[in-house]
Amino acid sequence: MNKCEIQFGKMKWKNPLTVASGTFGLEYAELFDLSLLGALTTKTITPKPKKGNKPQRIVETEVGLLNSIGLQNPGLEEFIKTDLQKYQEFDTNLIVSISASTIDEFIKMIERLDIQTGIDAYEINVSCPNVENEGIAFGTNEEIVFELTRKITSVTEKTVIIKLTPNVTSIENIALAAQKGGADGLALINTLYGMAIDVDARKLKLRNGIGGYSGPGIKPIALQNVYRVAQVVAIPILAMGGISNVQDALEFVIAGATAVAVGTQNFVNPFTSIEVIRGLEVYCHQHSVDFNELIGSIT
Ligand SMILES: Cc1cc2nc3c(=O)[nH]c(=O)nc-3n(C[C@H](O)[C@H](O)[C@H](O)COP(=O)(O)O)c2cc1C
Repeated sequence: MNKCEIQFGKMKWKNPLTVASGTFGLEYAELFDLSLLGALTTKTITPKPKKGNKPQRIVETEVGLLNSIGLQNPGLEEFIKTDLQKYQEFDTNLIVSISASTIDEFIKMIERLDIQTGIDAYEINVSCPNVENEGIAFGTNEEIVFELTRKITSVTEKTVIIKLTPNVTSIENIALAAQKGGADGLALINTLYGMAIDVDARKLKLRNGIGGYSGPGIKPIALQNVYRVAQVVAIPILAMGGISNVQDALEFVIAGATAVAVGTQNFVNPFTSIEVIRGLEVYCHQHSVDFNELIGSIT
């Protein structure tokens, strides 16, 4: 059976599947062997611990999820002391997602992480809609994305993946800025802005009002973003946005993604990523096609 191995930046993946940052923690190891995944992606880590936003910060909608978690995480040092050790137990690539408030802070984080063992790549989260003065404040500006990427890629030998927001006028221009800055790959998309109202209370359902929208409802939007970016860049794309099954994953690959991530669907069915890996193998076998030939094969 075709094993669907891929090359993503400087990494070799045993299959093209990972999990979207913030939707999948180490507790999933109780359900299946995480070494089965092509890569593991951590929740976004920031220089200092973050409590995140106050509840209500998750709201279910008809076709997806609204969240305003606000990058809750234990901070860089605690991550290195605890979670990083645990992640190293798995025989797969480790992508550490990071965010910070200044370019200098990003560089300091990379320098600190670069001297640890077991990290294969950094996903640079410049696209979180739920925090002020970081995240999306970087990812909506071409010059900043270029400068940040250039500086990061000049201090590390590891694979650098820039995670893009769809909440921009031209995602192609931001993608090109990251590529020009030396990015090894791109991840897209982060959540879209969304909100919901409790009509009885006539109040916003999320305490923060506006949050990030994810899940099946955003799939067509994510797909066209991936397709558009794939037309203009030469670096690999890690696609995410409403992927719930193998058909969804295949659409993203055929549109130009080299790898895919399961996000919100992990909350519905924690085995989705494993099912997609198997489904891709079956598809390639049945269609007598090598997985790598499928990438961007839309006619
Ligand atoms: C509860 C929740 C937390 C998230 N936390 C992060 C995060 O820490 N860092 C990040 O880059 N993206 C985060 N995301 C965005 C996802 O990684 C992904 O880009 C987005 O949800 C689209 O994929 P999906 O529709 O498959 O969930 C989060 C999404 C959800 C639903």
